[in-house]
Amino acid sequence: MILHTHDIDYEKYLKEVRDLNLGKNKKAYVFTFGCQQNEADSEKIRAMARDMGYARAECAEDADLIILNTCAIREHAEMKALSMLGRFKSLRRENPELIIGVCGCMAAEKHISDMLKTDFHYVSFTLAPNMLHELPRVIHGLMEGGRRRFTLDEDKGDIVEGISPLRTEGHRAWVSIMYGCNNFCSYCIVPYVRGRERSRDSSAVIEECRGLVADGCREITLLGQNVNSYRSDISFAELLRKIAEIEGDFLIRFMTSHPKDVSDELIAVMSECSPKVAPYFHLPLQSGSDRILEKMNRKYDKERFLSVARELKSRVPGIALSTDVIVGFPTEGEEDFLDTLAVLSEVRFDMVYAFIYSPRVGTPAAKMDGQIEKSVKEERLGRLLAMQDEISREESEKYVGTVQRVLVESTSKRRELNTLTARTASNKLVHFTADGVSVGDFTEVKITNAAAYDLTAEII
Ligand code: 5AD
Ligand code: SF4
Repeated sequence: MILHTHDIDYEKYLKEVRDLNLGKNKKAYVFTFGCQQNEADSEKIRAMARDMGYARAECAEDADLIILNTCAIREHAEMKALSMLGRFKSLRRENPELIIGVCGCMAAEKHISDMLKTDFHYVSFTLAPNMLHELPRVIHGLMEGGRRRFTLDEDKGDIVEGISPLRTEGHRAWVSIMYGCNNFCSYCIVPYVRGRERSRDSSAVIEECRGLVADGCREITLLGQNVNSYRSDISFAELLRKIAEIEGDFLIRFMTSHPKDVSDELIAVMSECSPKVAPYFHLPLQSGSDRILEKMNRKYDKERFLSVARELKSRVPGIALSTDVIVGFPTEGEEDFLDTLAVLSEVRFDMVYAFIYSPRVGTPAAKMDGQIEKSVKEERLGRLLAMQDEISREESEKYVGTVQRVLVESTSKRRELNTLTARTASNKLVHFTADGVSVGDFTEVKITNAAAYDLTAEII
């Protein structure tokens, strides 16, 4: 169901916490692990913290409220969060009123929530991603002397409109358009921790984008676990077109897509609305072996993937492609791995995010026979990255000598020179020096040098 904050007593609890905090100079520290979806959620958490009367703490040591927004995608992400949490034990000893909460995807895993409850006594609450709007109510309960809260089973899969994120950058913004995932790839924890797919109303999304552009935003990234299965009154392709119709000089990006859901209409919109809809597509391959794709429950085969990639490249001028690959999925043999390398050398992605398979509790793949040895996974990852470095460098070199319109992301002073980092519409990082150009400006540069993952340029 799509609800609004006034349907759920949200404002009431926000105000009650604010009143309790009044004049106490309280501060909140929010730390984010994981993907852009989590970054976007953290912007909402920060907005809620501000509205509950917490100023921003620069470090955990200064905080009265600590929130870790966690990621569960691989074991490594979980270990990092748990080790950070371990460091907070002594803070709690020094300040018994300190509230420590675990949000994000780990909070939605039963075995993690149970472990936090029993072994981490200083953790005051967990709150799964779909329950974020409950934060003021939970904090209020704790401040009133209530018990620790582990809210795992309360998720009803609602969308709550009306919580404006606290965005720190004016020139770019994330806009969530859908939540959850229905795909159940056999390795992936996301459907279990973020629930079923549900989409925001297109009118709410378009209004939010219109407001951002009116405020000077130059780059909007539409977010969702599977954006191209967005479904409300209109399709994702139509949504993109409508946002592109908003007057103004800005770029539209989106992530992440599923190759099975890339429609002809989406490719048409990208080609017609380029470069306002940025010519860049993140198209996760995961594996180039049909046998492994089947076991992953990806619902496409190598040929279908290659045909989507070919269509995108032939119809969207200057498009750059990137992908995700998992190495060492259960039973992956050398042959399967070579199939993956073959797809990488055929498609020639600009960028590949490659991951070693990490078994996730509760997913089908974790229980499959044929788990691969760590050393084999590492050796395959090394080979893949070495090959891809070469491809990325060659693809980058094609930019040398061209003129590119870039959006400036950051500036720094180095040896009296104003050094800028910017991005092309195709998502390549570009460094150059210039005066009189600021963060959030579009400017034209000429590319002079290329490395695998960034370019050097001079201003025109
Ligand atoms: N192990 C390794 N990588 C994974 N990913 C998702 N689940 C796992 C896992 N269990 C990767 C996929 C996905 C990206 C966000 O993370 O490649 O596209
Ligand atoms: Fe994002 Fe998935 Fe990690 Fe959750 S588990 S933070 S959705 S990458």
